[in-house]
Amino acid sequence: MPSVLVVGGGGREHALVHALRRSSSRPTVYAAPGNAGIASLAECVSISPTDVDAVTKFARDEGIDLVVVGPEAPLVAGLADALRAEGIAVLGPGADAARLEGSKTFAKNIMDEAGVPTARWGAFVDEAVAVDFAKSLPGAVIKADGLAAGKGVVVSQTPEEAERAIAEILGGKFGEAGASVLVEERLEGEELSVIALADGARVALLAPSQDHKRIFDGDRGPNTGGMGAYSPAPRGTPELLAQIRDTCVAPIVDCLGVRGNPFFGVLYAGLMLTPDGPKVLEYNVRFGDPEAQVILSRLDEDAYELFLAAATGNLEDRPIAASPRASTCIVMAAEGYPEGPRKGDVITGLSDADALEDVTVYHAGTKQQGDDIVTNGGRVLGVTALGDDLLAATERAYAAVEKIRFDGAQYRKDIARRALGRAVG
Ligand code: AMP
Ligand code: GLY
Repeated sequence: MPSVLVVGGGGREHALVHALRRSSSRPTVYAAPGNAGIASLAECVSISPTDVDAVTKFARDEGIDLVVVGPEAPLVAGLADALRAEGIAVLGPGADAARLEGSKTFAKNIMDEAGVPTARWGAFVDEAVAVDFAKSLPGAVIKADGLAAGKGVVVSQTPEEAERAIAEILGGKFGEAGASVLVEERLEGEELSVIALADGARVALLAPSQDHKRIFDGDRGPNTGGMGAYSPAPRGTPELLAQIRDTCVAPIVDCLGVRGNPFFGVLYAGLMLTPDGPKVLEYNVRFGDPEAQVILSRLDEDAYELFLAAATGNLEDRPIAASPRASTCIVMAAEGYPEGPRKGDVITGLSDADALEDVTVYHAGTKQQGDDIVTNGGRVLGVTALGDDLLAATERAYAAVEKIRFDGAQYRKDIARRALGRAVG
């Protein structure tokens, strides 16, 4: 039997472990560090994802056949390079290619080189020059160059707000991540996430999905890692997906290959569907969270075979099969998220929710404490349901959410509402 190590411990990693356990190869699955939900499907080992040496040593000593890396930080830190140097297959790019997510300036340069449509932009270390450029745009978006846990982006509504954001980023609010500031044109339209696997040369698209980044209903309040998602996204027609593949995904993989940094792993394109066609807002070098929960629950292929093919340069150049059913994930977050989530609240009703047909409760910030499962992070659970259509999936996911209780729980009531064109929940 093959063995797989999933690196990470959030809802995305729970969904990855769940998908791998459905493989006909029946792999033994380990997770580093995993969480209370993953523990029922995999052996959790207490290793930090960014401890490159410790993860590599574990994979070598255990004779792991495939490592699947969930979050971006270990990739940016060179985990995939270290594993490949040991001859271990890994779904995830090396540090050079991971700069696609690790540095927004690097990503913009590659997009320009590859001819990928994106917002007009400039990168600056000088505040006054950055402000001048922002003022020259009809609307400006200000971004810290480096990783800022999704919080380093300000879509400014006024020139004053743009100026303030530039001053904050260059003033050190995000530390090293804000050593330079990116100023770009504000694009208008609907957003769509497209996630592909790449094997260094070929790309294969997974089903399109849509997440909800703001904490409150109606897309209000601060940005979060993601408060819910659904798949399929009705805007993602086969024609549009083929266009996105050809203009926004494949050229990047080609370009990185030519540069000598072939991209193996998961390439996530965050897109704005503008009146001039799809344009790339950002790339991530991993599955989205909670997008993974909905995409992988619809995956109609053998996850182990598929991930191994991408990791070893054997991907078939075709869309990846998805169930015709829809999937909706509602994130339940802790009190105080995203600023300062409270930990240690006891969670009840998990098994009642899980027992509902077509419902899976993916754990994110949870921990076993004696007989209890308690909150242990900002995003606590990803309550995910399949249904024959998006309405059925969404209603079922909310029915499951209703069964779960913990003090201070917060979740959005309008996940998928825009796609459904009516109120749900
Ligand atoms: P990013 O981390 O670059 O994806 O930015 C986070 C969010 O900010 C995106 O999902 C968009 O909602 C918004 N955003 C980023 N760039 C732009 C842009 N150029 N125009 C409009 N909205 C943007
Ligand atoms: N849900 C957005 C992300 O994972 O980046």
